[in-house]
Amino acid sequence: MNKDTNNDIAVNNDMENSLNNTNNLEKDNQKFLTVTMGCQMNVRDTEIMEQMLREMNYEATHEQEDADLILFNTCCIRETAENKAYGRISSLKKLKEKNPNLIIVVAGCMAQKDQEAVRKRVPHVDLVFGTHNLHQFPDLLQEFKRYHHVKTSIWEEDEGLVPVLPTKRKYSFSASVNIVYGCNNFCTYCIVPYVRGRERSRLPEDIIAEIKELVENGVKEVTLLGQNVNSYGKNFKEAFDFSDLLIEIDKIDGLERVRYMTSHPRDFSDKLIDTIAQSQKICEHFHLPIQSGSDHILKEMNRGYTREMYMNIVAKIRQRIPNASITTDIIVGFPGETDENFQETMELVNDVQYDSAFTFIFSPRSGTPAAKMEDQVPIDVKKERLQKLMELQNNSSLRINKALEGQILQVLVEKVSDHNSDMMSGRTRTNKIIIFPGDEGMIGKLIPVQVTRAQTWNLMGETV
Ligand code: SAH
Ligand code: SF4
Ligand code: F3S
Repeated sequence: MNKDTNNDIAVNNDMENSLNNTNNLEKDNQKFLTVTMGCQMNVRDTEIMEQMLREMNYEATHEQEDADLILFNTCCIRETAENKAYGRISSLKKLKEKNPNLIIVVAGCMAQKDQEAVRKRVPHVDLVFGTHNLHQFPDLLQEFKRYHHVKTSIWEEDEGLVPVLPTKRKYSFSASVNIVYGCNNFCTYCIVPYVRGRERSRLPEDIIAEIKELVENGVKEVTLLGQNVNSYGKNFKEAFDFSDLLIEIDKIDGLERVRYMTSHPRDFSDKLIDTIAQSQKICEHFHLPIQSGSDHILKEMNRGYTREMYMNIVAKIRQRIPNASITTDIIVGFPGETDENFQETMELVNDVQYDSAFTFIFSPRSGTPAAKMEDQVPIDVKKERLQKLMELQNNSSLRINKALEGQILQVLVEKVSDHNSDMMSGRTRTNKIIIFPGDEGMIGKLIPVQVTRAQTWNLMGETV
């Protein structure tokens, strides 16, 4: 059973505000602005909530001042993510004073984690709900508009799988599709299992039907989403795992590229590597978060693999798919991490030669075991380690990218470059960003591009 912690708290409800609010209810085409923090799951959830808003006669705006409703979809993976959310929401206080009818909504993982903290730190917020009751957003909003009561509604768990709504995606040619919700891994540093609940896999037929519909509407690339996609299907009665799902998706006519994130090294099977090697559409990019190169720290993190097991997976990938890119996530300064342990991470990074890495300073998250561990690493040590690691990784990234100079790669064109309106930005199958001269007519097309110059973070190219 879900515990619906429903705290309705009346706000200064003067007559004028209530009247204005009623007017809002009748006014057509109000405007919304969304701010999304965190991972792809949040990006996907925002798309769903935007669609709900459109169905309630809202339309999108990019201007804060024009918005009748601003929605924050928040993340709490690290303290910095929370501070960023609180900073942005706090900065709206003035706007809210100027326009009391502005509705501020806080959703997502930070709301799920601690709604009381949200109410305390940003009291000018009107509506707070969590990850498990996102589907209630329209009802909660209508209720708020009718009674003008600040509304907080958090469910401890969801009631099984929430139906997927047809939604307008960010791009018309690329879309994310949820395959597994939640996480059962309980890595000792991580808040996700507490804010996203237990692992639940969507049925293969629902996923396939969703992708087929997307492809009929012009989508060429899908990204399958889950905190740990490799554990897909573990709750099914009949054996059907992530490889089986990929085999079916690979058969879909008209689909060009399949990506997935994130895959956990613990469940990364030989069957999966073989499936990817034999497939047509699954991109040659492996994001395999290692977190630490020290067996001792990996154990303390409850990651469920050793350095050796990880290196074996890397070797198999390199052998079966030689042109694959491999990327990772690494945490420095986990409690008890000695200089020696950190050195093991540096050695591993040097051995693997990652294409790129997301590197993070350990951030204690209250409620997780690691936050309570002794031997917390001082912040200046953490910063120094991060610096060293980033330098090492940047050198590898540049070296690996340099080897691509002169090659012709297939690119899915995504958008006009953020930095130069005469240039386009796209992605290779190995997930590298490539910038090249072109025009908007190329967006959504797959074209060959020759790499002319390699940089640490992206490639420069020319169409051929
Ligand atoms: N499910 C994915 C990770 C999702 S979170 C996986 O297991 O691979 C993305 C990344 O954030 C993690 O890989 C980890 O490197 C980092 N991270 C998670 N919790 C953190 C914390 N408390 N402090 C610092 N980094 C953290
Ligand atoms: Fe967090 Fe670990 Fe689950 Fe990834 S696998 S979401 S790091 S608990
Ligand atoms: Fe953040 Fe929630 Fe994703 S905590 S990383 S938005 S699952």
